[in-house]
Amino acid sequence: MKKQLEEILKNGLAQIEVAADLKQLDDVRLKFLGKTGELTTILRGMKDVPAEERREVGTLANSVREQIEAALSQKLADLENEKLRLDMEKEKVDITEPSTGTKRGALHPLTRFNNKFMELCVEMGFTVIQTPEIETDYYNFEALNVPKNHPSRDMQDSLYITDTILMRTHTSPAQVHAMETLKPPFKIVCPGRVYRNDDDSSHSPIFNQFEALVIDENVSLKDFMIMVREMAERLYGKDVKMRVRPAFFPFTEPSIEIDATCQMCHGKGCSLCKGTGFSEFFGGGIVNPKILEMSGIDSKKYSGFAFGPGIDRSVMITNKIPNIKYLFRNDMRFLKQMR
Ligand code: PHE
Repeated sequence: MKKQLEEILKNGLAQIEVAADLKQLDDVRLKFLGKTGELTTILRGMKDVPAEERREVGTLANSVREQIEAALSQKLADLENEKLRLDMEKEKVDITEPSTGTKRGALHPLTRFNNKFMELCVEMGFTVIQTPEIETDYYNFEALNVPKNHPSRDMQDSLYITDTILMRTHTSPAQVHAMETLKPPFKIVCPGRVYRNDDDSSHSPIFNQFEALVIDENVSLKDFMIMVREMAERLYGKDVKMRVRPAFFPFTEPSIEIDATCQMCHGKGCSLCKGTGFSEFFGGGIVNPKILEMSGIDSKKYSGFAFGPGIDRSVMITNKIPNIKYLFRNDMRFLKQMR
């Protein structure tokens, strides 16, 4: 039996030595120390060893087991270290390799303008909201006092989805959503895409507007003009000139159109402003009391003003973009120039 044990020790250590991976090593472990392993079988047979030899053989058997276990764990550590070394070798990054250069992205000019205007509005106390691009006839027209026979209600001018659902033709439905859901006083601004059945070099079926609405007690046209002046100065500088023309919108009364110093020629007169030195800034006015009442606001207590600048034109002028379509085509050649 002693001989057998010495044999096991010799073979065991030799096989552990040559195990090439974790799987092979585990096979060796099972072969000697597993439930039916060679050493296990011998230890189980100890009861048949004559009593006088048992002590000696037992000590030897234990020592063999300890040596095999020690060799197994040493080999296990070696194999794991080797695997780690190989993995690191494989994943090595050559930090001395020259880079191919990173391509710098940039915000779209519309996004840049939008961000600038939104920042300005937030500084002035407005809350930014967003309302759906697909609207019902009620929010886009009816609640804004747009009469049944108004041309914008026609298929020729608006993009309908069904008889009563259409792509919003302006951001003004945001006024109705705000009045229905917020408690005055409030100041909201809603940026967004709007859609019209229009298509030439200065008109696109998709374009962008903001809707701003201020509702409070005792709001007058004077307050509106002060705010507009402030906005124009912050956008175009202190020396901006403004002029006001009467206008008509069914949802504001009175309605005005505001022009500001032409940003193309800075007031000198050019083809864009037809020599006047002014270009349209935006339309707006005092909210028609009828609109307030329809949306559940007491028009005896509250009044307000609303305005809705289009932004594509300003972006075209400041970036010298000749055709509005460039803004929507995602053409890299154009976008690279706009960085
Ligand atoms: N919605 C109007 C348009 O698209 C602009 C506007 C907004 C006018 C708010 C008055 C008040 O032309």
